[in-house]
Amino acid sequence: MNILILGGTGDALALIKALRELTASHPWILVLSLAGRTRSQFPGDWQVRIGGFGGLEGLKHYLQTVPIHLLVDATHPFADQISHQAWAAADALAMPYLRLTRSPWQPGAGDRWIEAANHREAAAQLLTLGRRIFLSIGRQDLANYAHLKEFWFLMRMVEQPDAAALLLPGFILLEKGPFLATSERSLLEQYAIEAVVSKNSGGTATYGKIIAARELQLPVVMIQRPSPPPGPSVATVEEAIAWILQWSNGQF
Ligand SMILES: NC(=O)c1ccc[n+]([C@@H]2O[C@H](COP(=O)([O-])OP(=O)(O)OC[C@H]3O[C@@H](n4cnc5c(N)ncnc54)[C@H](OP(=O)(O)O)[C@@H]3O)[C@@H](O)[C@H]2O)c1
Repeated sequence: MNILILGGTGDALALIKALRELTASHPWILVLSLAGRTRSQFPGDWQVRIGGFGGLEGLKHYLQTVPIHLLVDATHPFADQISHQAWAAADALAMPYLRLTRSPWQPGAGDRWIEAANHREAAAQLLTLGRRIFLSIGRQDLANYAHLKEFWFLMRMVEQPDAAALLLPGFILLEKGPFLATSERSLLEQYAIEAVVSKNSGGTATYGKIIAARELQLPVVMIQRPSPPPGPSVATVEEAIAWILQWSNGQF
């Protein structure tokens, strides 16, 4: 049984590690697929393939030729394109499919969230919120803010951005989470941040900035998730393992 896990997230890594532990009693061959956006290495006792498949047709071809028996989409909630392609490929091939996507954060007491459907809306919201902004959105979407010339941005990302991001006035922090709420609070204070822009990624690794913003009573422009694909979905690694064990035992 060949299981393909579309990754690029901590959850994908946690899932494949947990499944690897079970391979002594289950005949699974595990393959982790990464887009290749970062240079991070994920050493482990499983196969890794890196790079796009070549769209929907390329993915279908890959799934059929390996062949893959179960497709698990454990990509980031904002990795919209690959997730819809994954579901479309599995659906077209009648292949068992599961999506692992952690639950979104919910605003709590003391949070000052402003919901935005996308980056364009988020950029528009900033006009009334201040001029010193923590853009905690990664590097791919920075160009959406490039027209805000009179702003100053603290921009955090894992890898050096492309040239478009360098046009934004401010400072680039190259760092990878998890981040503690205490250090996030210090960061916001150090740079006199007036508002935070975040994607509603969910999970604990990057939640520290939300806690810090709450403590400092700063507004957070929270970008909502894109629509998920249809198909079975679970929110935790534990639920994914239970589902995969049931699938492996032929229960569906
Ligand atoms: N978007 C985020 O905020 C975010 C945050 C953290 C991590 N990530 C991770 O970064 C990767 C890229 O995210 P994205 O938002 O750029 O994706 P995307 O826009 O949904 O996908 C763009 C293209 O990248 C390729 N691709 C994406 N994920 C892949 C994977 N795991 N394995 C093989 N090919 C993949 C596919 O190329 P083809 O069409 O050629 O197959 C896909 O069509 C994902 O693995 C995601 O989990 C994303």
